[in-house]
Order: sequence, then structure tokens, then C-alpha cells
Amino acid sequence: MTVSEIFATMDYGTAPENASEALAWIVDQGGRFGHFIDGTMTPVGEVFPSCDPATGETLADLTQGTQADVDAAVKAARRAQPKWEAAGGHARARVLYALARLLQKHSRLFAVVESLDNGKPIREARDIDIPLAQRHFYYHAGMAQLMGTELPHAAALGVCGQIIPWNFPLLMLAWKVAPALAMGNTVVLKPAEYTSLTALLFADICKQAGVPKGVVNIVTGDGAVGEMIVAAEVDKIAFTGSTAVGRRIREATAGSGKALSLELGGKSPYIVFDDADIDSAVEGLVDAIWFNQGQVCCAGSRLLVHEPIADLFYAKLRARMDKLRIGSPLDKSIDVGAIVNPKQLDAITAMVAANTAGTTYIADSKMPQGGSFYPPTLITGLHPADTLMQEEIFGPVLVATTFRTPEEAANIANNTRYGLAATVWSENINLALDIAPKLAAGIVWINGTNMMDAAAGFGGVRMSGFGREGGWEGLQGYTKPIKQGKALKTTAAMTGIGAPQDGIDRTAKLYIGGKQTRPDSGYSTAIYAKNGALLGHVPTASRKDVRNAVESAQAAKGWSRTTGHLRAQILYYAAENLAARASEFAQRLDQMQGGKSGAKEVEAAVKCLFTYAAWADKYDGQIHGVPIRGVALAMKESVGVIAALCPSEAPLLGLIAIMAPAIAMGNSVILSASEAFPLAATDFVQILETSDIPAGVVNILTGPHADVADTMARHMDINAVWSFSAPTLDTVIEHESAANLKRTWVQNGIAQDWFAPDAKTFLSHATQVKNIWVPYGE
Ligand code: NAI
Repeated sequence: MTVSEIFATMDYGTAPENASEALAWIVDQGGRFGHFIDGTMTPVGEVFPSCDPATGETLADLTQGTQADVDAAVKAARRAQPKWEAAGGHARARVLYALARLLQKHSRLFAVVESLDNGKPIREARDIDIPLAQRHFYYHAGMAQLMGTELPHAAALGVCGQIIPWNFPLLMLAWKVAPALAMGNTVVLKPAEYTSLTALLFADICKQAGVPKGVVNIVTGDGAVGEMIVAAEVDKIAFTGSTAVGRRIREATAGSGKALSLELGGKSPYIVFDDADIDSAVEGLVDAIWFNQGQVCCAGSRLLVHEPIADLFYAKLRARMDKLRIGSPLDKSIDVGAIVNPKQLDAITAMVAANTAGTTYIADSKMPQGGSFYPPTLITGLHPADTLMQEEIFGPVLVATTFRTPEEAANIANNTRYGLAATVWSENINLALDIAPKLAAGIVWINGTNMMDAAAGFGGVRMSGFGREGGWEGLQGYTKPIKQGKALKTTAAMTGIGAPQDGIDRTAKLYIGGKQTRPDSGYSTAIYAKNGALLGHVPTASRKDVRNAVESAQAAKGWSRTTGHLRAQILYYAAENLAARASEFAQRLDQMQGGKSGAKEVEAAVKCLFTYAAWADKYDGQIHGVPIRGVALAMKESVGVIAALCPSEAPLLGLIAIMAPAIAMGNSVILSASEAFPLAATDFVQILETSDIPAGVVNILTGPHADVADTMARHMDINAVWSFSAPTLDTVIEHESAANLKRTWVQNGIAQDWFAPDAKTFLSHATQVKNIWVPYGE
């Protein structure tokens, strides 16, 4: 017999991980679990089973949370929070460090429990989920330690409600709990109903680590419990899961003042150019779509292959698929484990069965008997608009198409409502780094995939949600400024009946696409001076005007590709032009508002333009060191089109303080001017027209904010809405924005100090971070 013949006859032997300790831990707890509230396990209530998806057997019974349980957990968290925050960063760092150490000490137990409960291969739980969870606690122990010196103006939000999914049960817990605790918050966390066991094991180690009572509370149960947490008296909801539920949470929390972060689904492109290292790119796909059975929000689930190599690539891919081993999750030699639950298996099966497009290839792998297993599947020859190219399957099913040019690759990649991650394979650094900024995604991996680390923010754009987890940017989601602003006062317009002071009736126009235009509504409103004299009329913008403005703002998107240096010069020039007409603007402000503060306001507006001109080429990204061969370039990108309702007070300064940071960062804006004193904005149009700002970058509307707020929030091509207007509109904006899950920034009844705004806060709202992972070093 030759050596190759011997190899041909060899089958792989199973190398199962020992489950006895994990099962013994479950038995030790009586096989039935209550919740973890105020530092103790509560008595077991009405139960539901937690099953091993590889066998269907029940592992343990878990308690379905009730309203009383959620109330008790929130109360305990509220009680514990002030002391936990006051303990200081160092004290919290020690607790987080203890948690990290204990996770390390019990890493095998955690890994086995995770595999049993979720169905993921033990190799993945052992080498990825649990080490990354530990890393998160270490990293955030450091953040707690540094909070006092590095974030001196930040305070904890309070109590955070956290709802996590079943695909990375312990890791998602770590992503949520570690930063929250580091910043002095307390938490009420609900694990997914399919996979709560590692969260309950974590509760066990919280006691050992000296986490004070009430700082971490864990309530188990289904979506109904999630809804109770969303409705509870918490200061923030952090959610990871499906887009449908994310949308419901956005609607439910609208106008409540609760902070919200949503990490939702994806249909991430995996782009392979003809100059890629093909074998590596094929191997990368094993990590992209067969990792965790494809149940990964950032899975590279949409393969785009350069046409010249498509046949070769597919052939190699099919051959690799046939070698994938499917089997018991506790077998160390398998590649693909079990689907989390029969329901999820049914959903995947139904989606694939309903597809009639393309060519389906199913891996020639031996399928295990029983349990929830699905074979690795490849569907080639799909069109970008086919359902399976658009909808998240959340299973081990890869869909594929080809492209001819880099431009086409980027267009197909962006032809999705999602924007979580993207992968690019090319040996040509110019090409890879040319494509990366063009991809609508929060994360781009170059010549690698599915890499994650606590130091690099994770999160998406579009319907993949908003907010980032990890890195410095992730901390923003768990802090608020120590110094809260004053309560917002209503500023009413002046009333009058008089004729124009100088006999000329001035009717201002809207400013859309660089042109002054009449409103679609055909209505206008009279604006009076403090002394009752008629100053002029302003048009009433309607939803049609909003739509026109969006079109212009979208057409001006080339602005985002201009350099910070150019944008700085244009902002300086606008400042110069405003300064040259300072007395005229000051007089107008005094006429409208009464008093003599006009000159001061104009001076502050000029200063504000200078401030953001200064920042235009200095609000840089960061380079995150990650413990993988590479670095993550955290690039600050523009958000896109930002619509804003300007404050009634400080009508010129407010408008400029909103416009300047937004356009300095490359966004286009649609500004609905001060309702009470809109002439400051319509006069400012003359400055815009003479300051080299390209048409469509700044659009100005006038009229009641209530007439346009809902259209702005709902419009699919507006990427963010900011409101400094009446608090009643906060609810409208947050609720209606659920349609495309855009970012919103409302003030919850707190006034900005327009004469001393916090520039960094405005800049961070005007940007989003894209983490681009590039190979670096050895
Ligand atoms: P899901 O979004 O329903 O569940 C995620 C979490 O939200 C669980 O803890 C669940 O109990 C909770 N939840 C459910 N309804 C809720 C509500 N109304 N209010 C508050 N919390 C609620 O996800 P599901 O049904 O388990 O999976 C369905 C699809 O969602 C998957 O096929 C996949 O496409 C997507 N998904 C995406 C994830 C991601 O990481 N982005 C993770 C899990 C699922």
C-alpha cells in the first residue's frame, strides 16, 4: 500500500470535548435556573427548556421572566448605580479585571457550555467566543482605569437595559456588560431564550469577582421580557438582534429620552478580485459564511467574484466545501456544528426552498443523524436584486454573483439596505484601499474576514443599525456629559400687524440646490419685528420641498470626497463674508429679537465658522492596535445627508453651529430655520451664495418644523436627523425614523449653549467611524 492509498482510506477520528463538567455544573444548580437579581439567584418560576440543538435534548429549565422580575431587576440596578459610579474608575477596573481573570480561569467550562447550548463547534467557542469575551473585560478594565483622566467630562448614563441574541451568547454579553460597567452604569441584561446558560454561569462568577449586588442583573425569558425591559425605567437600551425587532424598539423608545444603540442584521459582501490570493480567499470564506453556521450578523454572505476568475474560484470553493466536516459541536475536528434551534433551521430551509434562481450546490458532506443541521450551500449565478441576494438568511448559505470592474463591484456591494461589514480580497493595495472608502459598511476587512476585537468599534450603517461597540467610540454609547444644559425654553415669534418699515414687502425664498425657490405649498408667513413692524414673509416649506432638498443634497455628495483642507478654506471664506456684513446681520437680529445682543451673536457665529474650519482638517481617525496581524484604521466618514431643525433662539448662531460641523465633515445639510426668527437664515443665503459652497451642500427651508419633521425622519435618503426644536417633535422624529433606522439626535428638552457649544459632540454626530482592517507587520 502506498502512502497516498493509506491516506485515502483514513477517515478522521472523533475527538470529543468532555461535557461532564458542564453537565455537572447544570446538575449542581438543580437543572433549573431562576434569574440573577440583586446579587442572588431568584427562585425558579414558570419554566421553559433550553435545548442542545445537536441532539434536541433538554439541558436545563429556565425561568420565564415576569413584569415583577423585570421591576425587581431594574430597582436593584437603580439602587446600586450611584455607589458603583462613585466608587471610581480604579475600583471598577479591579472588578472588571477580576471578571476577565475568572473568565480565563473557567474558560473551558464556558466554552463547553456555550457549544452545548448554542451548537457552535467547540473549536470556535474555545478559540474565539470565550477569548474575545475575556479580552473585552480586560480592555474595559483599562477603560474604567482611564476614564477619570481621558474622559473627564463623561458621566455614566445610569441603568442600561441590554438585550442580546443567541449567536454569540457570552461574547455579546461581554460586548454589552463590560463597557457599561466600566463607565459606571449598572445593567439589566436579557440573554436570548435559546442560549441563556453562559449568562447564568457568568452570574456565578460575578459573585466570585466581587461585583456589588445589583450592578449586574440577568433576567431570562423570551421577547416579551425584552419588551418589558424596553418599557422599564432605564436610561438606555442596547440591542443586538433582528432588524424587525430593532425597528420595534426604536418605535417603542421614541420620545422617551432613553439612549439607544442597535446592532442589527447584514448581508455583507465578500469581494474577490482577479489578483487575489485565491486559495486564501477561498479559505476566508470558510470563516466568512461557515463560521458559526453562518449565524453571524457580519457574515460574508454575498460573494462577488471578479468575472475572469469566477469559474476557477467556484471550482475551488466547491472542492473546499466538500471537505467541510459537519457534526457534533463537541467534536474538536468538525467545521460546522448545529443550527441554534429547529425554528431557525426551518426558516433557513424555507428561504432556500423558495428560491428558484441561480444554481444551487450543496456540500458533499456526511450529515449527522438527528439534531438541527444544515449543509453548507452555495448558490451561484444570482442577480443582485434576487431575494436571496437581498435578504439575510442567517445560515450556512452563501449566495454569489460576478462583477467586471471595481466600480461595478462597489455598486453591487452597496446594493443592499444593510451596511454592516464588507470584505475585500486583492493583492493590490491600491485597489483594496480605493474600494474600502466606497463601501457602505461600518467595517471593512482587507485580505481577512470576520476579525473582531475590543479595541476596534463594531457596528454598521443604514439598516444594520447605529452606534458602535468596542473601542473609544463604543464608550460614547454608555456616557453622557457631566454638565447637563439648562431646560429648553420656548421662544415665540413676535406678533404685529404693521406695514413694512421701509415700504418694501420682502418675501424670502427657500434655498434648494443653490437656488432661491418658491415653496411648493404656495403659502408664506409674516415675520414681525419686536416693535410689531412687518419685516417680511417667509415661505412655508412642505414635504415636497423636503424631497426636492434631499435630491439636491444627494446630488451634492461629491462634497464628502473633497479634502478637509478645501472645506476649511470655504468655511473661512464664509466667515470672512459674514464678518464683512456683521453690522447688517446684527441689526436684523436686534430688529427680530429685540434687545442689543445681535452684534455678539454675529461675532460668535464668525468664531463658530472659524472653529469648524479649524476642525475640518484635524478631526482625524485613529489606528487601533489589535492582537491579530494587522491594524484597524478607524476612519471618520461623513454621515451623508443630515436634516436639522434649528433652534428658535440664537437664530443665526444656532443655524451656523449646526451647519458648520456638518459640512466641515463632508455632509450635505437640509436646515429648517428658526421658526420664530427665520429671516436670519434667509439673509444668510447671500453669504452662502458668495462663499464657494457648492450647490446642494446647504439647503435652507423655512416654515413650521412640524410640517417637515415627519418627512425628514421617514425619508430613505436622509441619513440622520437632528432636532433642536420643540421637544414634542423628538417623539415624531425618533418614531418615524424607524422606517430606515437612521441616526437621530434630539435634545430631550435640554437647551444647547449656543455661545459655548461642545464642538466634539457636534463633530461626533456629524461623522461615523468605519474600521478598515489592513494587514500590517509580521
Ligand atoms: P430576535 O431579534 O427576535 O432576537 C434577539 C433578542 O431580542 C432575543 O433576546 C429576543 O428574546 C429579543 N426580542 C425578541 N422580540 C423582542 C421584542 N419585541 N422586544 C425586545 N426584545 C425582543 O431574533 P430571532 O428571532 O432569534 O432571529 C431571527 C432573525 O434575526 C435571524 O434569522 C437573523 O436574521 C436575525 N438575527 C440577527 C442577529 C444579529 O446578530 N444581528 C442575531 C440574531 C438574530
